[in-house]
Amino acid sequence: CGIVGIVGQQPVSERLVDALKRLEYRGYDSAGVATITGGALQRRRAEGKLVNLETRLKAEPLNGSIGIAHTRWATHGAPTEGNAHPHFTRGVAVVHNGIIENFAELKEELTAAGAEFQTDTDTEVVAHLVARHRQEGMGRGEAMHAMLKRIKGAYALAILFEDDPSSIIAARNGPPLAIGHGDGEMFLASDAIALAPFTNEVTYLIDGDWAVIGKGGADIFDFDGYPVERPRQTSMAAAYLANKGKHRHFMEKEIYEQPEAIGHVLAHYVSLIENRADPVLSFDFASIPSLAISACGTAYLAGLIGKCWFERYARLPVEIDVASEFRYREIPLSPQSAALFISQSGETADTLASLRYCKKLGLKIGAVVNSAESSIAREADAVFPILAGPEIGVASTKAFTCQLAVLAALAISAARTRGTVTENEVRALVRNLAEMPRIMGEVLNSIQPKIELLARELSRYRDVLYLGRGTSFPLAMEGALKLKEISYIHAEGYAAGELKHGPIALIDKNMPVIVIAPFDRFFNKTVSNMEEVAARGGPVILVTDEKGATASNASKLDIMHTIVLPAVDEIIAPMIFSLPIQLLAYHTAVFMGTDVDQPRNLAKSVTVE
Ligand code: G6P
Repeated sequence: CGIVGIVGQQPVSERLVDALKRLEYRGYDSAGVATITGGALQRRRAEGKLVNLETRLKAEPLNGSIGIAHTRWATHGAPTEGNAHPHFTRGVAVVHNGIIENFAELKEELTAAGAEFQTDTDTEVVAHLVARHRQEGMGRGEAMHAMLKRIKGAYALAILFEDDPSSIIAARNGPPLAIGHGDGEMFLASDAIALAPFTNEVTYLIDGDWAVIGKGGADIFDFDGYPVERPRQTSMAAAYLANKGKHRHFMEKEIYEQPEAIGHVLAHYVSLIENRADPVLSFDFASIPSLAISACGTAYLAGLIGKCWFERYARLPVEIDVASEFRYREIPLSPQSAALFISQSGETADTLASLRYCKKLGLKIGAVVNSAESSIAREADAVFPILAGPEIGVASTKAFTCQLAVLAALAISAARTRGTVTENEVRALVRNLAEMPRIMGEVLNSIQPKIELLARELSRYRDVLYLGRGTSFPLAMEGALKLKEISYIHAEGYAAGELKHGPIALIDKNMPVIVIAPFDRFFNKTVSNMEEVAARGGPVILVTDEKGATASNASKLDIMHTIVLPAVDEIIAPMIFSLPIQLLAYHTAVFMGTDVDQPRNLAKSVTVE
């Protein structure tokens, strides 16, 4: 899921692997490097983590000063060394991110013409197509262009030709690619972070572009083969060269960064609301009949909470779905409406496709993103940055709460411009938001010992249920998602009221139920559902606030553990209650010894459908 290339003056393999390490956070299950050494293409590949590739390279170094490298997240073909990129075919080496959708028919055609395939991957057809065009007498660029005309799907590609030790050819249609400008050297990578130690001068290819990258610069062409200019920009990625500091994992560091990150994001948005910029944030909420929201994974769950706010405070109907469904549902959307796309990376393929779908229908497009240099940000009419800073842990934490903070601010600003709340109510909501960094800091400083205790117990179970009502329902789903992502314990998040319509059949002493219940207008109803669990012998873990704890003590319920947070206003409860569920997932995973920052099979940025 990561590509790197260097056209250098010195041997490049070490730097290629070094750059791949900065793409590790994207998730992968095998890796490989190819260089041209002594006029011949040579490669080293390895299953699993990059240390395996490094061991391989130490035993058999590659000395070429031009090379391409790749971390692979398996889509077609198991994550074996044989399926790892680069793929070699008759003097052509290829690395690829994405999916070649018509690979099966191309493979059939190429096989019929005598090509011999060595792997189960879709990528290998690219190498064979290019090699065939070369054999037909085409030049390198010409062969590349002819190949691009044949393949369908999403791709970022980098190709090395054995007969040309001075350039790499790259192409983009979907997954991002940045060309880096060095001093007498040129670079290529899936994102600018990978290149940060080498250069901060980058040019992003846009969809349909392909480029010939030599030592001195890059020639970029569009899909029709015409030369095009793409802007050279200074990337902020150097700031992303994160390290874990005193923390064991990036995830832990990112959880503890939340008070500061939220403070940062509020300073930006609250002042915008208070300065009464009208319409706030270049999005005219007053004139739209409805709002569509689409996203994937954790960002989608943030969207579900955002929906509650837009509907409750701004009386704005919200249509929301996961992007992989949204894009195909043929939802009747009005061109007068607006659509919000939430994405930490700003590169998620399904979310980007949903954005383009709405754009085509004429809706006004807003992007709630962490990466302002991303595709989703670039294609939106209005960008609402979540300002969370780099998030390296694959399981999203601070991006989630920052997405929530931005959505809360947008909902309040929408409510103001639509006249559905009074100025006094706006002030009260803003005042509550402004309390968040302080309360988050207090919570993080106090709950860890209790959470660790609980995590130790939780790690003994195979299944866990999370329940909640109102905004605590999406939060229950986020709690379950977090736990299953990093600890591999099976977990489900349910609307507390739905318990009796199915999952209650699962309740016994082996099914702990984590109930997220701030003392809000749903509290008593959620407690009734909790009683239904306790009555059937299910261990109950209650996550509540001080008022809720007092009330549940009075009810004499048999509760295994209670996690008590400060009592907070309803608008900030989802952000505050995120902290215990994140920490619980984190410590449970730590006890179980899983790879917390890079859980198996998951990728941080999913640029395939
Ligand atoms: C992947 C990640 C999730 C993330 C989702 C959406 O599945 O593992 O943590 O929530 O993609 O990513 P995005 O970058 O669009 O927020």
